[in-house]
Amino acid sequence: MSNLHIQIIHGPNLNMLGTREPGHYGSQTLIDIDESIIQLGDELNVQITSFQSNHEGEIVDKIQHLDADALIINPAAYTHTSVAIRDALLAVKVPFVEVHLSNIHKREEFRHKSMMVDMAMGVIAGFGAQSYNLALRGLHHYLTQSKS
Ligand code: DQA
Repeated sequence: MSNLHIQIIHGPNLNMLGTREPGHYGSQTLIDIDESIIQLGDELNVQITSFQSNHEGEIVDKIQHLDADALIINPAAYTHTSVAIRDALLAVKVPFVEVHLSNIHKREEFRHKSMMVDMAMGVIAGFGAQSYNLALRGLHHYLTQSKS
């Protein structure tokens, strides 16, 4: 039993998945993605909680009040702009993985830059909805290794 708790944070417009730019983001909805990662969490004995917001300040509040061993975050558009989310992550020092559905490095130049990736344990981009599950597997491996 690993007794780990991992928080997922989905940034702005990810509530529109399923209909939003399926060429970039696939056809799965956010509910599908959450169901899949919760199921993988059950298999790995990891408790998963998920939060989505379109508002930068709400994401900052969520990070400040984090009650979890680690974080998987897709900051969406805020990836490329948010000093506030970067500072919140610096303040709480929680291990986190940055996730993107699309391969941001194959897209417009402004998406190549991330405000937080240098603080992340790792980054997974380009595997669609599977990016989240890959992040969970990576984090679980890291956390159970470092706990044993
Ligand atoms: C995204 C990539 C971002 O550039 C974009 O603003 C998003 C989603 C992704 O998951 O591929 O909203 O984070």
